[in-house]
Amino acid sequence: MDPRTAPAARVKKPRALREPGNLLVHGDNLAALAKVRPQLEGKIRCVYLDPPFNTGRSFAQYNDSLDADEWVRMMRPRLEALVPLLADDGAVFAEIDDTQLAHLALLMDEVFGAKNRISTITVVRSATTGHKAINAGPVHVSDFILAYAKDKKRWRYRPQVRVREGLDPAYGTWLDDPDGTPARWKFRPLRSAIAEQLGYASPRAAAAGLGREAFDRLLVDRALASARNVVRFAQPRYEAIGRAAQKVVDQSRAAPERVFVLDREGRPAFIVRGGNRILFLGDKVRIVGGRPAIVEPLTNVWTDVPFQGIAREGGVVFTRNKKPERLVARVIAMSTDPGDWVLDPFLGSGTTAAVAHKMGRKWVGIESGDHLTTLATPRLERVIAGEDMTGITHETGFAGGGTFDLVTL
Ligand SMILES: C[S@@+](CC[C@H](N)C(=O)[O-])C[C@H]1O[C@@H](n2cnc3c(N)ncnc32)[C@H](O)[C@@H]1O
Repeated sequence: MDPRTAPAARVKKPRALREPGNLLVHGDNLAALAKVRPQLEGKIRCVYLDPPFNTGRSFAQYNDSLDADEWVRMMRPRLEALVPLLADDGAVFAEIDDTQLAHLALLMDEVFGAKNRISTITVVRSATTGHKAINAGPVHVSDFILAYAKDKKRWRYRPQVRVREGLDPAYGTWLDDPDGTPARWKFRPLRSAIAEQLGYASPRAAAAGLGREAFDRLLVDRALASARNVVRFAQPRYEAIGRAAQKVVDQSRAAPERVFVLDREGRPAFIVRGGNRILFLGDKVRIVGGRPAIVEPLTNVWTDVPFQGIAREGGVVFTRNKKPERLVARVIAMSTDPGDWVLDPFLGSGTTAAVAHKMGRKWVGIESGDHLTTLATPRLERVIAGEDMTGITHETGFAGGGTFDLVTL
């Protein structure tokens, strides 16, 4: 039949170009990346890679001892093979420790362009206890994540927060009726207000009656639960605020007991007393894991993702190599939306695939070692069966479902 007159419905996409579902590939990642390119070119929004760190050790599953140049020769073509797979607004996050950090940074500058560097994130992975403490020189407790966009102008950061433990001591004032008329607002020390709520005449009496630690714990719980009633006073940088706000500050200084409110279009009201701005703890509190917590914008130093206690995550033992699900989840959350493609070419025990699956992303994981069969595959089968209750399962509410294909090269 003349192809120009063939009915449209019969014109099928060639099979090789159809988008695959979630995919586990058993084989060397260089060959695997070439293999998936026809289906996934330009589609991957996030690559997380956790290559061998070249620690000089030999693990049960693989040897981690190359000379530095050999390591770079191994990595270069693999990083280059990621470029065509990345979406134009995609990004690559490579985890590494001190050993190859400098080589990897230079290599990624070359492959992705220094201008596309998003961040160098320091991940604090252990305390100064154990074997690391006997190293000569400062004790190494960190990994690094080198983050590069394919095109930084097109990449979009999905803002993340970190939970601050305890209470910022600056928030030390209680306001009884935040919804009432500001002119009638009454302020008193937070500790006194909470002590009174607990049935004590003073903070000192509460600490004596309950024990200092218990009182401090209750204070934090109650302040977070009633965060709109908890405030701090902060001196505004006079030269950095607009004319209208400066005028309000001047008025407030002249009448320090009065509260002045300047409503602002599309921004929180500017509320001042005694020349100081009133800031509400409620503006910093979010529900995290079902409980109120103070959150702050995420920085490039991550101290809040525990590596301790992950031995059982995913039901797989992959000592010294497995990364916390929470760590990978943060990378995926900052760089993708549900339904996006995530790729890990050094999959190890399957962490990235398990996390992407629980977060509703599509994924490709590549691993050359036999642990793809003994660790990663059964781990993902448990995730799909809804049997994996570890890692980020609780936070995501994932209850099972989905599929993946396994391809051996
Ligand atoms: C540090 S581990 C990754 C651990 C992983 N993030 C996890 O949480 O389990 C590095 C992995 O890369 C695999 N690997 C090394 N060279 C590879 C290659 N050329 N192709 C595919 N996998 C490779 C190793 O077998 C090892 O499982």
